[in-house]
Amino acid sequence: MEFEVCLAMSDEDLMLCFPVMRELRPQLDEAGFLVRVRRQEGMGYRVVFARGASGVVAVAGYRVMENLSWGRFLFVDDLVTVSAHQGEGAGSALFDWLVAEARREGCAQVHLESGVQRFGAHRFYLHKGMDITCHHFALQLT
Ligand SMILES: CC(C)(COP(=O)(O)OP(=O)(O)OC[C@H]1O[C@@H](n2cnc3c(N)ncnc32)[C@H](O)[C@@H]1OP(=O)(O)O)[C@@H](O)C(=O)NCCC(=O)NCCS
Repeated sequence: MEFEVCLAMSDEDLMLCFPVMRELRPQLDEAGFLVRVRRQEGMGYRVVFARGASGVVAVAGYRVMENLSWGRFLFVDDLVTVSAHQGEGAGSALFDWLVAEARREGCAQVHLESGVQRFGAHRFYLHKGMDITCHHFALQLT
C-alpha cells in the first residue's frame, strides 16, 4: 500500500493525528493533545503522519537531540499505527521517513524506548534493523 508521509504543522493536521495518537496515549484528550504538542514543539518536538487511502493511519512524534554519549541523534517519542490498519506498511513507511530525517538532520543514530510489554513493537523494531542497547530506569515521584 502507498502512504504519503507529512509533517503535522497546522491544528487541523494535528487533529487528524489525534485519534491515532490516542491509541498509544489514551490519557490524552483532544484539547490537551494540542496544547502539549505546541509546548513540546518549543523543545524541538515534531509530529509526522502517514496517510493512505483511508486517511491518517499512523503517527509518530520525534525530536533531534544531542548528548555526550551518542552525539546528534533522532529520538522517537511516539510511533503508532491505528489498530485497524496495522500490518499494511504504514509503520514501516513512517519509520523509514524518520531514518531519512535523521540523516537529513546530520544524526548518526536513531533511538527510542519501548515498554517492556510491547512485544509486537519490539519485533517490528528488530525487523527494521534496530538493536536493543539500553535498559531504561524510572523513579516515580508522585
Ligand atoms: C509497532 C507498529 C507501529 C508497527 O506498525 P505497522 O504499521 O503495523 O507495521 P508495518 O505494517 O509497517 O510492518 C512493517 C514490517 O514489520 C513487521 N511487523 C510489524 N509488526 C510486527 C509484529 N507485531 N511482529 C512481527 N513483525 C511485525 C511486518 O510484518 C512488516 O514486515 P515486512 O516489511 O517484511 O512486510 C504497530 O504495530 C503499532 O502501532 N503497535 C501498537 C503501538 C505500539 O506498540 N507502538 C510502539 C510504541 S514504542
